[in-house]
Amino acid sequence: MAPVISLASTVDQRIADALSAALPEAGAADPLLRRSDRADFQANGMLALAKRLKGNPRELATKVVSAITAPELIKEIEVSGPGFLNITLTDRAITETLAARAADATGRLGVPYAEHPGTTVIDYAQPNVAKEMHVGHLRSAVIGAAMVEILEFTGEKVIRRHHIGDWGTQFGMLVQYLIEHPHELDHKNATEAAPSGEEAMSSLNRLYKASRTLFDSDEEFKTRSRDRVVALQAGEPETLALWQRFVDESKIYFYSVFDKLDIAISDPDVVGESGYNDMLEETCRLLEESGVAVRSEGALCVFFDDVKGPDGNPVPLIVKKTNGGYGYAATDLSAIRDRVRNLGASTLVYVVDARQSLHFKMVFETARRAGWLSDEVKAVQLAFGTVLGKDGKPFKTREGETVRLVDLLDEAVERATAVVREKSGKLGLGEDEITERGGQVGIGAVKYADLSTSAARDYKFDLDQMVSLNGDTSVYIQYAYARIQSILRKADETAGTPAPLAHPELTLAPAERALGLHLDQLGEVLAEVASAYEPHKLTAYLYQLASLFTTFYDQCHVLSDDNAPEVVENRLFLCDLTARTLKQGLALLGIQAPARL
Ligand code: ARG
Repeated sequence: MAPVISLASTVDQRIADALSAALPEAGAADPLLRRSDRADFQANGMLALAKRLKGNPRELATKVVSAITAPELIKEIEVSGPGFLNITLTDRAITETLAARAADATGRLGVPYAEHPGTTVIDYAQPNVAKEMHVGHLRSAVIGAAMVEILEFTGEKVIRRHHIGDWGTQFGMLVQYLIEHPHELDHKNATEAAPSGEEAMSSLNRLYKASRTLFDSDEEFKTRSRDRVVALQAGEPETLALWQRFVDESKIYFYSVFDKLDIAISDPDVVGESGYNDMLEETCRLLEESGVAVRSEGALCVFFDDVKGPDGNPVPLIVKKTNGGYGYAATDLSAIRDRVRNLGASTLVYVVDARQSLHFKMVFETARRAGWLSDEVKAVQLAFGTVLGKDGKPFKTREGETVRLVDLLDEAVERATAVVREKSGKLGLGEDEITERGGQVGIGAVKYADLSTSAARDYKFDLDQMVSLNGDTSVYIQYAYARIQSILRKADETAGTPAPLAHPELTLAPAERALGLHLDQLGEVLAEVASAYEPHKLTAYLYQLASLFTTFYDQCHVLSDDNAPEVVENRLFLCDLTARTLKQGLALLGIQAPARL
């Protein structure tokens, strides 16, 4: 009888177990298994082990080869080079492992939970009140949302924080302007329906520009605006109420953009800069009392040996300005205290533009000196690069303005809809379906392009490439998924065609083995992506999976009358597991996988 395989065990783990059984002196040493071109796997661990045991790696490897007893798992094992092991698996082991994963009743495809999950507070999707969202906000939202899903999938407790820019001196100007022009935020049909996101943004924009013009040209208005900042900071009720209108109006707009992006944001997770007001004074007092921050030219500052300006003078982190105002740093330091102490974070993740890296380096270091971050709490900035235009320069409109995120998304959806209309025409999709799929493909394409280069790098926003059916795109993966669904439907509808069923006794064709071995890597890839915050490794995995499926489909006929029924069943099984893996992976990235495309 076949051994019982635990749901979580991959072929890698099974090989590792067999190796350590063959060589008890290896103990818990990592066999360092890698996928290899020469065999299925190569184990490099004998070299380090030999060093530790003061033995000869080739001798150790030879000993393993003669002692190993796992005929159901290992078809061939041989020593190569200075003491590597080349390992070829039996076809049975591959199919059996996949069958166990497919049978996982929890729907997790056999992916184990992390051994020691913690609590991660993740700061992402943080646009600024009364301002338009641009491509930078796209990146934070898309990368952050993917990391949330991936971390939760590994069993981590995840707390979302949208640190929106809802505080600062510009609100004195805005509120003052609204007091003097009271109907500027009213909407024509406000009594009938709430404004749309577009309407909300356009009135905010108008108001922002008008107040800015006045502020720059009218000294008295400037003075009244400055007094208004003082009233706002003192919590004067009328001022606060008007400020709240700006925040509420902006949220209507933010939510409409997130909705378009198919990213769910829930209100209690929106804790903007203003949410930490009550802590700012105490944060500064604690920093000053502990000597972490010192007074310098009237400001409260933290200094660092390794942070210097171009003139060689130290550049401090300013926690409290000379005029008594608190800045971005005081808010972030207070947020750290809140997230660690009140939310119980063991990890803090900030999905923020790489251009803010110095700020976060200084903030984290300050928090460490103050004891708010300890060895038990890790703080990381998941820094992302700039979105560039096709010309390789920062993305701007022809007029030189920053590109509005909504325009960009609309264009992506429009392009994708055209692709769907052309490619899926033969499916006889109705106009509603074409529109729906266009949205799923277009938004998926934008997200995928953003996620598929490593976050730290800049990338070119190129819609032609993003919606291409060939190459490393979500469109390619979505079509692979839909193709599999169509095969499965056809099998289901054709009388007498068998259903998906694994047959471990069958010999596998090379394309089936390659597909099967890759399918088995999902859990490992996810663990890596979660611990290093690298969603691009998941896109790469899925792209390769879709490619391996394409090769398999070219080389191995699935629904052919020439196949024995068990071959059809086993191939349908591989199709089904591939589809489920693709769908799960895309879902973690926030990308939909329509069944008919
Ligand atoms: N609102 C900021 C921006 O648009 C990003 C906020 C980042 N998060 C933080 N905790 N500082 O650039």
